[in-house]
Amino acid sequence: MDSIAVIDFGSQYAQLIARRVREAHVYSELFPWNTPADRVLSLKPKGFILSGGPASVYDHQSPQIPVYILESQLPVLGICYGMQALTQALGGIVTASIKREYGPAEVETTHENPLMPEGKRLVWMSHADRIEQPPGGFIVLAHSPNSPFAAIGDLKKRYFGVQVHPEVRHTQGGSDILRRFATEICGAQPEWTPESIITETIHRVQNQVGNERVIAAISGGVDSSVAATLVQRAVGDQLVAVFVNNGLLRQGEASQVAMVFHDTVGAELVTVDAVSDFMSALQNITDPEQKRRIIGAKFIRIFEAQAQLLGQPHFLVQGTIYPDVVESSAPDRAQAARIKSHHNVAGLPIDMQFELVEPLRYLFKDEVRQVGEVLGLPHDLVWRQPFPGPGLAVRCLGEVTPERLKRLRHADEIFTSELSRAGLLWMQEDEGTAQAFAVLLPVYSVGVMGDNRTYQETIALRAVTTDDFMTADWARLPYDLLARIANRIVNEVAGVNRVVYDITSKPPATIEWE
Ligand code: XMP
Repeated sequence: MDSIAVIDFGSQYAQLIARRVREAHVYSELFPWNTPADRVLSLKPKGFILSGGPASVYDHQSPQIPVYILESQLPVLGICYGMQALTQALGGIVTASIKREYGPAEVETTHENPLMPEGKRLVWMSHADRIEQPPGGFIVLAHSPNSPFAAIGDLKKRYFGVQVHPEVRHTQGGSDILRRFATEICGAQPEWTPESIITETIHRVQNQVGNERVIAAISGGVDSSVAATLVQRAVGDQLVAVFVNNGLLRQGEASQVAMVFHDTVGAELVTVDAVSDFMSALQNITDPEQKRRIIGAKFIRIFEAQAQLLGQPHFLVQGTIYPDVVESSAPDRAQAARIKSHHNVAGLPIDMQFELVEPLRYLFKDEVRQVGEVLGLPHDLVWRQPFPGPGLAVRCLGEVTPERLKRLRHADEIFTSELSRAGLLWMQEDEGTAQAFAVLLPVYSVGVMGDNRTYQETIALRAVTTDDFMTADWARLPYDLLARIANRIVNEVAGVNRVVYDITSKPPATIEWE
C-alpha cells in the first residue's frame, strides 16, 4: 500500500500530521528524525513530510534532515522547523525573526502551485525563526504580513516548505494541503480505508498466529472489542474471549458484553462472575491507589486461572493503539509523571507467558472506531466515552459497597441518558462532552424532603471537554439541563440528597476523582 513517512522533529503536532494524511486515505507512519534509514525506507514511502520542532536549525546539535531523504529524490514537504531544516540543508539561510509569529495569520498564495490553491486563507502559525533566503531553485508560493516566505517550493524537484501548520484544525484548508501533497504531488493511491485495514489486519494476524490458540480479555470498551473481533475474523474459533465481570461496570454494560460477543461477533466467550470476589477484596478499602492495586492484581489472577483452564493458549490479544507505540518509541519525549497507576485489560503485564497479538498497533483511536463500525459492532459501543480499567471503584469515593455502587450507577445513568437526549454525550466541534460521569462522595449533608429532614450522600457530576485527555476543561452545560439532572437524581436515587457540579480544569485536577 502507498504511504507517506512523517519525520518527527519533536513537534507536539507530529501525530496530527499522520492522522490528517490518513484522513485522505493514504497510509502514513511517524518516525523520530534519527530512525535508521533502512527502517524508514522499508515502508517504501512515496514522499516525506518533515514535522515542526522546538529546536533552531542553527543551534549546535540541532536535528538535521537525514541524508537518505534528499538522496531518494522523492517529494518532500517541510512544515515549520521541517521547512527551515530543508532550507538549511539545501544552502538557504534561516535566521531568528525579530517578530515572533504565533496564532492566526492570513496567508496569500501568490504563485500557482500544486500544494496551496490561489487566494487568501486564515492559517495557524507558531514560529520564531524564519527563512532569510530560500535555497537556489526555490520560488515563493505564498506570503503573510510577517512571513515573506510563508510557503516556498522547488516545483521541479517537488520540494515544498510551509511556515504554516496545515495539520491543525485552525488552518483553513489545512487537510487539503496535506491531501494534495500525498495524492497529487507524491501520487500515493488513497487506499487506506476501514475495509483495507480490516483485510490487511486479518492477513497479518493469520500469518502470526498460524494454527495456535489465542486468548483475549474483553472489557466492554471499544479497543478490546474491536481487537477481539478482528482476531475472531482472522482465526475464528481458535480465539476464546474472556470477560471478567468485576461488578464495577456501568448500568447494563456487563450484559451488553455477553450479547455483543455472542450475537454480533460470534466468538466463544467465557464469562467469569467475579463480582463477590472483587467486593470482598475491596471491603474497608478507601485509599485510591490501594483500590487500583487490588483491582489490577485480582484481575490478573483471575485471568491467569482462566488461561490455565483453557489449556494456556499461546497468544494473547492486546489492544495497543498507534499513539501508544509512538510514545514508547520516542524516548526523548518527556515521560509523564505517574499520577495514578493505570489498570487496563488491554495492558496485561509483560511477565505473563504469552506472545502478543496487536491488531490495532497501527491505528489511531478514530480509525479503531471506524473499523468497529464496519465490523458491525453496535454504534453505542463503538462511540462510547472512555472508561477507566478500575471502573466505578474510582468514582465511588470511600468504601466500595454493592449498595453505594447501585446508587452511583443509577445517578450515572440519569446523567448520561439526559446528556445523550440533549445530544451532548459526544464532542462535536467544540460542543458536547468528551467524558461525562457521576461520582459518589462519602459526604453527608442535611436536606429536607417533604416535611422530613434527610442526612444523605452527595453526587458530583463531572463533564469535560478535551481532545487528548491530557488536559481538559469543564463542560459549560446548559443550566436548565443541569437543573433537570439534579432534580431527577435527588428524586429518583435513594440515599442522595445533594448534587454538585465539578468546575475544575485538568490540570490542576484530574478527570477522574481518584
Ligand atoms: P485522569 O483522571 O488521569 O484520566 O485525568 C485521564 C483519562 O484516563 C482514564 N483513566 C483510565 N483509563 N485505566 C484506563 O484504561 C485506568 O486505570 C484509568 N484511570 C483513568 C480516565 O477515565 C480519563 O479518560
